[in-house]
Amino acid sequence: MKPYEQLNTPCFIFDEDELLGNIRAFRNSFEACWGQGGVIVGYSVKTTPIAGLISCAVNAGCYAEVVSDDEFALSLEAGCPVKDIVFNGPIKTKQWLDFAFDQGCIVNIDSKRELAWTIDYAKSHGSAPRVGLRINFDLEAAAPGQSMAEAEGVRFGFCFEDGSLAEAIAQLRAAGIEPAGLHAHFSTKDHLPETFAVIAQSVCEIKESFALNALDYVDMGGGYYGGGLRRSMYDDYARAITEQLVKAFDPDKVTLVVEPGGSVLCTPGFYLGRVIDTKTVRDKTFVVTELSKLNLNSTAFARRGFSYELLINEDRKILDNQILCGYTCIEMDRLCDLTQEPELQAGDLVLIRNAGAYTASFTPQFFIQAPPGVYLQKTDGTFEELVSHYHPVVPNLEGI
Ligand SMILES: Cc1ncc(COP(=O)(O)O)c(C=O)c1O
Repeated sequence: MKPYEQLNTPCFIFDEDELLGNIRAFRNSFEACWGQGGVIVGYSVKTTPIAGLISCAVNAGCYAEVVSDDEFALSLEAGCPVKDIVFNGPIKTKQWLDFAFDQGCIVNIDSKRELAWTIDYAKSHGSAPRVGLRINFDLEAAAPGQSMAEAEGVRFGFCFEDGSLAEAIAQLRAAGIEPAGLHAHFSTKDHLPETFAVIAQSVCEIKESFALNALDYVDMGGGYYGGGLRRSMYDDYARAITEQLVKAFDPDKVTLVVEPGGSVLCTPGFYLGRVIDTKTVRDKTFVVTELSKLNLNSTAFARRGFSYELLINEDRKILDNQILCGYTCIEMDRLCDLTQEPELQAGDLVLIRNAGAYTASFTPQFFIQAPPGVYLQKTDGTFEELVSHYHPVVPNLEGI
């Protein structure tokens, strides 16, 4: 049993070894298929926006991929060199966009106002900023059943089919700016390597259609699966993508950027909490814990199957069924059914696995319960508290 007894619960725990192992494997897979142009692995900050984890990733050679001014600031605070920021998303402000251009960050624009500000920047500085364009094409038509946006269509980027991309490129060129990069992040349902091949094919088609001959990077975004015992999947993505890209790009000249989130952050994360109480209602046993389904994020992001481990090191009666429940007053805050497991008691520790992606970033303050704290379990086995949220409330009648 790992020495979790010393930790304030509930909490998230990130295993540094596992995170670094995933990052290294991810980079190795892509580097093995690409050339001297190099591979940049951008840690997707939104997936787990915790300074201590961003620092780990940066120390392991990652860039920080950010989609807001706040994430940009957090990444700098975490020690990411400013030139190692990949600035994405449609909600950048002009101040941070200008700052990113000044600092030579990788900037992928994603909205009309950013296009206008990019052109303003070139005019006011008398020189063209280095800028990439996020692309949008009909992924559902090209890979039926795979786009998260389904037939309604993807909402990010400049659209190829409706002429918006052509218009954006024309406006940039008229201002003396030649695009330096293409950004192709798409959310897909099954995270299939074949879908990434389709996306890479479209990147090539777009490059050729607009004679984008000054591109120095292609950014294939995130959306991969794998990690932990399934690290070999990284190879499948790397092969699928690069086999297409080499048809239009020189791997010795062009940099390949990738932005893994869940695929590297899911397996290093654990969610730990204690049993508060147990009760039997008719023939069902309900186990109330400090955990909650809410802190495991039930949006479309939460794609990984969670699994649990009961940290009990004594003999107990085995029960056919116990229903593991959260602390909230939401009726269906039930995490899972425990079948043929030792009978849980107040104080027992329950560990949820695969809880590292889009969980700590989504914790609500629901039920006036502070979000769980966050620990890093370092390679030497010790724990570092990265986020402390454990503030037990004690009764205080003074002044009432
Ligand atoms: C632009 C961008 N890059 C990377 C990611 C990371 O995605 P994932 O966690 O699916 O790898 C996201 C997630 O939404 C994103 O929007």
